[in-house]
Amino acid sequence: MEFHGQLSRLTSVNPPKSKYHAAGRFGRLFPSLPPFAADTPTVRTRLKEIGKKGGVMDGGLNNPEHPSGVTAGFTFLGQFVDHDITFDPTSDRETQNDPEAIANFRTPLLELDSVYASGPGATPHLYHRPNSSEEAPPKDRWSMLIDEDWPKDLPRNSQNRALIGDPRNDENVIVNQLHLAFLKFHNAVIDHLSAKPRTHENTLFREAQRVVRWHYQWIVLHEFLPLIVGRDVVDDILTYGRRVYKWQNEPFIPVEFSVAAYRFGHTMVRGTYQLNGDFGAPIFDINTGGNDPNDLRGGVRPESPGIFRRFVEWDRFFEFEKSSQTPQKSARFDTKLATPLFELTGLEEGSLATRNLERGLAFGLPAGQDVARFLKQEILSQRDLSELADYGFDTRTPLWYYILREADLIEEGERLGPIGGRIVAEVLIGLMQADNDSFLRRDPLWQPTELGTKGSFTMTDLLRFAKAPVS
Ligand code: HEM
Repeated sequence: MEFHGQLSRLTSVNPPKSKYHAAGRFGRLFPSLPPFAADTPTVRTRLKEIGKKGGVMDGGLNNPEHPSGVTAGFTFLGQFVDHDITFDPTSDRETQNDPEAIANFRTPLLELDSVYASGPGATPHLYHRPNSSEEAPPKDRWSMLIDEDWPKDLPRNSQNRALIGDPRNDENVIVNQLHLAFLKFHNAVIDHLSAKPRTHENTLFREAQRVVRWHYQWIVLHEFLPLIVGRDVVDDILTYGRRVYKWQNEPFIPVEFSVAAYRFGHTMVRGTYQLNGDFGAPIFDINTGGNDPNDLRGGVRPESPGIFRRFVEWDRFFEFEKSSQTPQKSARFDTKLATPLFELTGLEEGSLATRNLERGLAFGLPAGQDVARFLKQEILSQRDLSELADYGFDTRTPLWYYILREADLIEEGERLGPIGGRIVAEVLIGLMQADNDSFLRRDPLWQPTELGTKGSFTMTDLLRFAKAPVS
């Protein structure tokens, strides 16, 4: 299984030091703030205690649900976005010569390179090649490859590897189904555009890519971010600008974002999901495996008997007006993670919570309290963090934990709080503002009138347009 921390060149052996805080692939938002703790064996032992299965962060298999409207699909949209911006396929040789990714790295943008990879020229195995019986399409009518024999799964090679731009999008069935929906969305846009008289300068493929990317960016800006950080934060940044996320040459992924704030998604994960009318399972179950696991890990063999039940009906994950389904909710924004995330194979301790806390230490992330003070926000009291008193972290709290606690206390588990929301929104909006081809740069007044409804466009619109399955 490809976990999604694995292809981003962000490992504990190359934590960028403050000297490089504004250069290269990774950087820092708060280079002047000291680490929350010194990296000592005692501190590591305490972090392991906090993050262990059955410890203060274990929310059980039925991890508390979101108090209102964030449905389960947004968790995986969040994971999909993470892969889009952290994927860095820089060559092995360059990576070896430049381990801190100071000079060689792929600029992080919301441009769906996980879907398009390097395009039909350099990565033709991801694209559909018409067979001779098909009518010759226009030369630039590149659609994405779909498995014609089993269109409910990603296309795969003979060894079961998904033929997609970023292997991490096969980490679990729900994110792999979302990837498939994006492939279908591109193909539907190609069909839509080729049925109309051409009014653009682009080739058909380039125009379809632009349309797909702009609609995706619209969803991130106008649907996803308002749900996870609140519309007021988004509006504030669009109106008054970014306060903490600045860059000199190229935009970068700040470690406070990738090692703390954006890992908020781990609290949104439910213990179990119902994929369709016949199949529901835990997101991960250490006791099952092989070719037909009874959990939701990705990468299952195409010929496995279980493959037939492993597809998502999207009205179980997002609101569809005319559906009788009530979509599953994401879990609450709090310090509790679902139990399966404490038993992941491939992690030393099994616990994703421990891994996140240890990464924060290795990267020298600041204490949540220091960041709150820096941003002139209300600081959580020792009482608010009393469950950490025994470990000595109630006054200098690991940033990831602090961000989850403020979401729970200040925003009542609905969304990220003032620090977490500000970091996540500034980085995602900043990456769009850095991109010369994004709609925010090219046409800030653009609205998705053609494919959307009433001047807006949501994940549900995208899935409907892509003809992705519903119950
Ligand atoms: C669906 C279940 C998920 C599992 C099993 C999972 C597992 C993991 C694992 C094992 C890592 C690597 C940790 C490390 O070595 O440092 C990781 C990293 C990360 N995860 Fe998740 N994750 C899930 C969902 C999510 C979601 C929904 C989000 C955000 C919305 C998210 C955001 C991140 C980020 C930002 C990183 C660091 C990425 C990087 O280094 O490039 N994850 N996750």
